[in-house]
Amino acid sequence: MMRLQKFMAMAGVASRRQSEKLIEAGKVKVNGHVVKEMGMKIDEKRDTIHVQGKRVFINEDKLYYMLNKPRGYVSTVNDEKNRKTIMELVPDEERLYPVGRLDQNTSGILLLTNDGDLTYRLTHPKHEVTKKYVIKVKPIPSKEKLSELRKGGDIGVYSIAPCEIRLRRFDEEENTGTYEVTISEGKNRQVRNMFEYIGCEVVTLKRIAIGELTLKGLRLGKSRKLTPDEIVYVKKLAGI
Ligand code: URA
Repeated sequence: MMRLQKFMAMAGVASRRQSEKLIEAGKVKVNGHVVKEMGMKIDEKRDTIHVQGKRVFINEDKLYYMLNKPRGYVSTVNDEKNRKTIMELVPDEERLYPVGRLDQNTSGILLLTNDGDLTYRLTHPKHEVTKKYVIKVKPIPSKEKLSELRKGGDIGVYSIAPCEIRLRRFDEEENTGTYEVTISEGKNRQVRNMFEYIGCEVVTLKRIAIGELTLKGLRLGKSRKLTPDEIVYVKKLAGI
């Protein structure tokens, strides 16, 4: 048994709050009857639910995870060089695949799923999902060099679109700068290449967000299932 709005969110109809609005608006039927009362419990195995005339189901076969990837793991299912892979860090390794990749020495948020359509769409260049990184570089780059990167254009290996770069902190003694970089493309080693192009060595690189999804509370090396609302959100990001 579960609440109707939770069922709707798990079925990918809309977030819980939006599902409540659909219920209020009389757009939801349980076993053929419009239900407007909030918090009704349904039996997901026996009841039939229609939203705006369409039957909706929870698809138990689809898995959606987020991982806080540590450095030193490669983002592949099998590695021919026998390096440690991210699959050692997720529970259902038989069925999960990474959505895109992070370099071996990059840490941070990585999605994994067996929903091939979602992977295809989220990694397709035309979707331009924003991704946020924190990068520490040495030496501290000049303001001019950073403006150059912000504007986009040729960085030697390829051209990049304009991006956002914000200073987080300097360490004058170490001669390092830490920046928050937001890009909406995912070219191979893009953030590293950007800073290497302006003469910096990359000390650490971590991805902290994919769209509005963040690692909040998820410890390094740990994974968790996405919540129903997060699944709705990533599907929306992918245009599904
Ligand atoms: N940019 C990089 O340079 N590396 C990553 O892993 C991701 C983005």
